[in-house]
Amino acid sequence: MKGKFITFEGIDGAGKSSHVEWLAEWLRAKGLTVHVTREPGGTPLGEKLREMLLNDPMHLETETLLMFAARREHLARVIEPALARGEWVVCDRFSDATYAYQGGGRGLDRTKFQILEHWVHDHVQPNMTLLFDLPLDVARERIAQASRVLDRFEQERADFHERVRQAYLERAHANPSRIRVIDANHPLDDIRKTLEKTVSSICL
Ligand code: TYD
Repeated sequence: MKGKFITFEGIDGAGKSSHVEWLAEWLRAKGLTVHVTREPGGTPLGEKLREMLLNDPMHLETETLLMFAARREHLARVIEPALARGEWVVCDRFSDATYAYQGGGRGLDRTKFQILEHWVHDHVQPNMTLLFDLPLDVARERIAQASRVLDRFEQERADFHERVRQAYLERAHANPSRIRVIDANHPLDDIRKTLEKTVSSICL
């Protein structure tokens, strides 16, 4: 079977990260080879860029270019080789996050996003994207309970996160066969059942 590329997306506090490992294990139990990775990051250089992106103030376009620089490296060293070997890649965030955060949240001109997307991965798109959606106040409450130092994005105001959420939903609306919206305001077990059904229907 050919390898598949699955991405997870959603606003900060949507709880997607806890489902990434679980889905990978579920796929491995079916005998598939699965790589779990994340963006920004996923390679030694990408993880260094992540450190900067999450902590150092920078111009919006610098932020966008670094996101795509990390992505180029990630595609070349991890994602494309794995898919070429027929293996699966489960990635915590990908280009839809740039569309939502730098585009929706920060107001980057969409045509600049499209140029970079075309340049960096015209030939690769996720087979399926799971968009974890929930009301902003629930997500904010989850972030507020975190006992760690919040990164630059998590520290943004509520209106920033509302624009990110709306941009994600708009992107899902424009790409209904690839992006599946998961209602994240449900108990863990219910969400897992939805994930099983959604991934099986398209990918297995
Ligand atoms: P996140 O998945 O939230 O990491 P963690 O679960 O460990 O907190 O990702 C880090 C942040 O990076 C997140 O707030 C969104 C941001 N981000 C962008 O702004 N643009 C992008 O293209 C990507 C991939 C992430």
